[in-house]
Amino acid sequence: MDIQSLTNDPEGIIEADRAHVWHHLSQHKPYATGVDPRIIVEGKGMRVWDIKGKEHLDAVSGGVWTVNIGYGRKRMGDAISDAVTKMCFFGGSMGTIPGATFAEMLIDKMPGLDRVYYANSGSEANEKAFKMVRQISHKHHGGKKHKILFRDRDYHGTTIATLSAGGQEERNAQYGPFTPGFVAVPHCLEYRSQDGTTGAAYAAASIKAIEDVILREGADTIGSLCLEPITAGGGIIVAPDGYWEGVQELCKKYEILLHIDEVVCGVGRTGTWFGYQQFGVQPDIVTMAKGVASGYAAISCCVTTNAVFDQFQDDTDKLSFFRDISTFGGCTAGPAAAIENMKIIEEEDLRGNSVRSGEHLKNNLNALMEKHKWIGDVRGMGLFAGAELVADRTRKDPIDEKLVAAIVGDCMAQGVIIGATNKSLPGYNNTLLFAPSLIATPDDIDEITDAVDQAITRVLG
Ligand SMILES: Cc1ncc(COP(=O)(O)O)c(C=O)c1O
Repeated sequence: MDIQSLTNDPEGIIEADRAHVWHHLSQHKPYATGVDPRIIVEGKGMRVWDIKGKEHLDAVSGGVWTVNIGYGRKRMGDAISDAVTKMCFFGGSMGTIPGATFAEMLIDKMPGLDRVYYANSGSEANEKAFKMVRQISHKHHGGKKHKILFRDRDYHGTTIATLSAGGQEERNAQYGPFTPGFVAVPHCLEYRSQDGTTGAAYAAASIKAIEDVILREGADTIGSLCLEPITAGGGIIVAPDGYWEGVQELCKKYEILLHIDEVVCGVGRTGTWFGYQQFGVQPDIVTMAKGVASGYAAISCCVTTNAVFDQFQDDTDKLSFFRDISTFGGCTAGPAAAIENMKIIEEEDLRGNSVRSGEHLKNNLNALMEKHKWIGDVRGMGLFAGAELVADRTRKDPIDEKLVAAIVGDCMAQGVIIGATNKSLPGYNNTLLFAPSLIATPDDIDEITDAVDQAITRVLG
């Protein structure tokens, strides 16, 4: 990394950042008292460099599981440049060539789904889905079926409405009051089984717990069930076998739309195009964002079946169409980048690599669990994994959040960026998170888990 080619005033950049940038999810106090904000200046493949020249291996795809194809792809820049030079933007009541082309490519990967609504963040895509459910309720159910079920420990975004569907108490704290009509169902983390059951019995209990909520609220009040295919920031929760069949049956039985939030799992993360495809479910609405263009441009999509779409076609009612807009959903940079992103994933078989390197990651984490009594559970799918840290394996007492942060910090000092559940779940911010780019090789994985091994030894003994 040649910093001079990027800026001739690195100190000035740090000071400008310190003085004026309000960082996401960050306590700024340390920056005011001597710690420099970290400025990332260049990325290539799996690696990023900061403004002081330090190299990092990125095990979390841009911090928040986004850069699925890795950094520094010139053809992504070229595709975006070509698109925006010809036609940068037009409001989404008109179409564009990249928009139409990507929609067709995407629907080809999503049998049973038909329509793509463009927006530009995961939160926004989820808001679109919620608005669709609400409008269907008004238009077709006389205002009934307006409630939206969400699951404890899941996360669907940062706006007030998506936080209303948020199952992470510490994320929500201090931002209420929330939007009415959102109702929680219990999480499905077998390691933290609510009633002590395991395996098939736990899956059955988890489904019964959802059904109990449906019956308590009244099925005629519930419009949709919104779930992450694998709970991401809530601790990498893969539902037990049988869970998804149960979810599908409940949705059918009670005429509830199934909305799957693929903002993290979407576009190859787990080895299939979408997380839900691992479990054989057929959703009515799918939302996606991060991996759609791997962060090279902003784009999100809310994808629906024609059965959903058709409920908005009625030219006898002037208000029946989906009266929603996303200004930047009309940018061509997003779909142009998404087209190229999808081509790269196909050409380089990155989904296959996610499965192969993901297996390697899981094996390494399991080996660390053999070695360190502090790891209580390892879970995940493809290049998406979590290791839950406990102070006592039998009692499963979570490790203190500060120690988890110290492990993440130790890895950072070693030049490896990992993640952890973080000020989200009271008492349970104790899971290390891994979501490297889908280009990760076994050597990259070894480097990541070696750093974790050393960090756990140093911090916990
Ligand atoms: C599962 C899930 N849904 C939605 C979102 C919100 O996406 P965005 O930050 O793009 O609004 C996130 C963000 O991390 C997420 O993890």
